[in-house]
Amino acid sequence: MAGRIAEYRIFLAEFRRNFRTTGAILPSGRGLSSALARFVKQSSLDRPRRILEVGPGTGAVTRHLVRHLGSNDQLDLVELNTSFVECLNERFRSDPEFQPAADRARVLHCPVEELPADVKYDAIVSGLPLNNFAVAEVEHLLGVLRRLAAPEATLSFFEYMAIRRIKSTISGRAERTRLQGIGQIMGRLLADHEIHRDPIWANIPPAWVHHVRF
Ligand SMILES: C[S@@+](CC[C@H](N)C(=O)[O-])C[C@H]1O[C@@H](n2cnc3c(N)ncnc32)[C@H](O)[C@@H]1O
Repeated sequence: MAGRIAEYRIFLAEFRRNFRTTGAILPSGRGLSSALARFVKQSSLDRPRRILEVGPGTGAVTRHLVRHLGSNDQLDLVELNTSFVECLNERFRSDPEFQPAADRARVLHCPVEELPADVKYDAIVSGLPLNNFAVAEVEHLLGVLRRLAAPEATLSFFEYMAIRRIKSTISGRAERTRLQGIGQIMGRLLADHEIHRDPIWANIPPAWVHHVRF
């Protein structure tokens, strides 16, 4: 419990300091985190997997990923925020849930855009707060994730339900245009590539977890 409160404190501090890139007040809850891990839990591959988590924050989703890591799988966590990186490294050192996976996990302290494009992942789980970014950035980031995906890889990510519609009603014209642009990119991505979606009603606010295959 004390650990959970410390985690919330770090997250809230980073939300205040780096609102745009942190994108949420608190770490994802259990239902949302578990749904994001769906395609790491159920794998049809009969070889070791490379798994990438983008924007792990304090490790709310990572906790679910490490439980389902095979003995020869590799998990890379890419995070740009220094406080979150320190928190994650500490987790792999001393948290009993994370420690068993420490030999197969790497915390990479950089933006996902800087990962080498020649390493490909079988499953990508993203916590990126795409709705906070400019349209061109969203397009670029989705291109980066696509480049990092191995053939048949899955990409799992979430968005709060109706968030763009709700934000649009209270925003000025420039912001509405930005949100519409992101909506169009998302609409195309999901129409062409979505293979499954999980509604997470118990989350505050409720969220969709989207799973796509490129
Ligand atoms: C909404 S939080 C999600 C945190 C965690 N996955 C969770 O669900 O609780 C977004 C995370 O993405 C990270 N982030 C934002 N932009 C990033 C980028 N370009 N590369 C890597 N991480 C990024 C933030 O620092 C933050 O940890």
